[in-house]
Amino acid sequence: MGALDQELRAAAAERARRGLARATLLDGVAAGVDFGSNDYLGLARDPLLVEAAAAAAREFGAGGRAARLLRGGSPLHERAERAVADWLDAEAALLFPSGYQANVGLLSALARRGDVIVSDRDNHASLIDGARLSRARVIVHDHLDLDDLERALRAAAGARRRLVVTEGVFSMRGDAAPLREIDALCRRHDAWLIVDEAHAIGVLGPAGAGAWAAAAVVGEHRLCARVVTAGKALGAAGALVVGSTALRTELIHAARSFLFSSAPQPALAGTLVAAVARCRAADAERGRLFANTRRLCERLGLPATPAAIVPVPVGRAADAVALAEALRDEGFFAPAVRPPTVAEGEAQVRVVCHADQTAEQIDALADAIVRRRAPATPAVTSTPRGAAVTFVVGTDTGVGKTVVSAVLLRAALRLGAARYWKPVQTGADDDTATVRSLAAADASAMLPNLASYPLPASPHEAAAAAGARIERRALDDAFAAHRRAAGPLLVEFAGGLMVPYDLSPPVLQADWLAAQRGRVVLVARSGLGTLNHTLLSVEALRQRGVAVAALFLVGPPHPANRATLGALAAVARIFELPPLEPLGPQQLDAWLDQNDLTELFA
Ligand SMILES: Cc1ncc(COP(=O)(O)O)c(C=O)c1O
Repeated sequence: MGALDQELRAAAAERARRGLARATLLDGVAAGVDFGSNDYLGLARDPLLVEAAAAAAREFGAGGRAARLLRGGSPLHERAERAVADWLDAEAALLFPSGYQANVGLLSALARRGDVIVSDRDNHASLIDGARLSRARVIVHDHLDLDDLERALRAAAGARRRLVVTEGVFSMRGDAAPLREIDALCRRHDAWLIVDEAHAIGVLGPAGAGAWAAAAVVGEHRLCARVVTAGKALGAAGALVVGSTALRTELIHAARSFLFSSAPQPALAGTLVAAVARCRAADAERGRLFANTRRLCERLGLPATPAAIVPVPVGRAADAVALAEALRDEGFFAPAVRPPTVAEGEAQVRVVCHADQTAEQIDALADAIVRRRAPATPAVTSTPRGAAVTFVVGTDTGVGKTVVSAVLLRAALRLGAARYWKPVQTGADDDTATVRSLAAADASAMLPNLASYPLPASPHEAAAAAGARIERRALDDAFAAHRRAAGPLLVEFAGGLMVPYDLSPPVLQADWLAAQRGRVVLVARSGLGTLNHTLLSVEALRQRGVAVAALFLVGPPHPANRATLGALAAVARIFELPPLEPLGPQQLDAWLDQNDLTELFA
């Protein structure tokens, strides 16, 4: 136990060093005006809800007693389900103890091996975990990128069932999903849509009925389930999966987080019945909430957000923590949001507006943010999405990554400015110089290596031989800085996908890649041995939630490999790049004239 505690303390110290330490609030109450909780309408302290909880406990007792199928719960549980289903104009609803359990139970009940779950890159952890637990193949698409979503759906064509999963309003970005368009794509590709309404319910739509209701889709649609988490605008706790009666029946048989968990307390069910009635009638509160959100965005010079969440972009985790602490000193509670909740380099202070905040409080918070932002942080007048990034990874060393990088850079330069970066170079070669000459690029397009080592070996070994280490933080910081600058960025990895940058703690290139946002181009040899290497690489990426945007087979075209990989790898685009003689910009241009790569830079 002592040794384990030592390891855990070392991990905690490392987290603190990286600005990632977190703590629960010891007395349960945060100091300062609440700009952090999701009690958007102020219903958590509403006397009607509090009294409903007490009455339910008096009548049905304090405990959940057992799982619902073992006589746990109370008649109020079904009344709460009915109330939510009626509100959302659905056939049925099923109550789960939490939104996390609802998402995990729903996805693992509806999908299995052989199915595909198409998931927005910024989906909540509970959706990610549910998708993982289902054992379905998960294809992650760029945030709210409908083209990328459609590409993912095309790649999922052979699956038994396709589920598209999105949040109605995204918890960390505060933006809303275009549900009509997503539903249309689901119709086109025979997929089913799941909408997590956590941050939209009670806020958007007529009578606060959520993002799907706000989208007002008429006629045929592909919505199969909405997840209504009740711990936010509803002022309660728990969550309901809302859909058809058949869906509810399936869930009570197959959603293990429902089956094997005690029923929520009657007090929760009673609160929910009151909360739904209260929330349906809360147009005045919604009006005040929207006025507050609008006011804060205007004061900060940020684009308007559709609901209650106003992310203030900061960048580095440590700067976000410093800003949150400075705000706390001035009497405001708004938390720093850091990796892994958001990507490296995209830390923010997440400000949440409520109906009961006053205009004076909003103005004072905005003034404090403007005054206390670290000078090095980016201006809050823009929400940087960052440059479009394409990662070039190989199934092995020597498969042709550098030539493919040159082809990609040349293609990107034809469309405008673009940059190339090889974070780590090992061995005597200088891939940056090779790519520059093949693509006929200006020096300004070529970013310097983060590190370069003479030993032709895996990055971790080459670094060790030079008495150095490749620290993840250095990689993260350099990448975040390059990404912030304008123009598409190509990042060429060293060797094969799974080689390590570091051993202690282990950082595989594949893991680092999975923590970033961007398109992935996989490069493989064209001939013998490529089926195994390519399929393993695609699977390793997929397990990390990364879809391959394009596969390049480099070398003399093989009579069957392209078709075989087309059937088995489920990659949207496969290109063959034969040996080009002599190798130079004109030959790359000739190849590009025959092969359109523009979609890779959209
Ligand atoms: C989008 C989203 N889904 C699900 C959940 C989980 O809900 P719960 O807190 O009820 O477990 C959250 C919680 O923050 C969320 O933001």
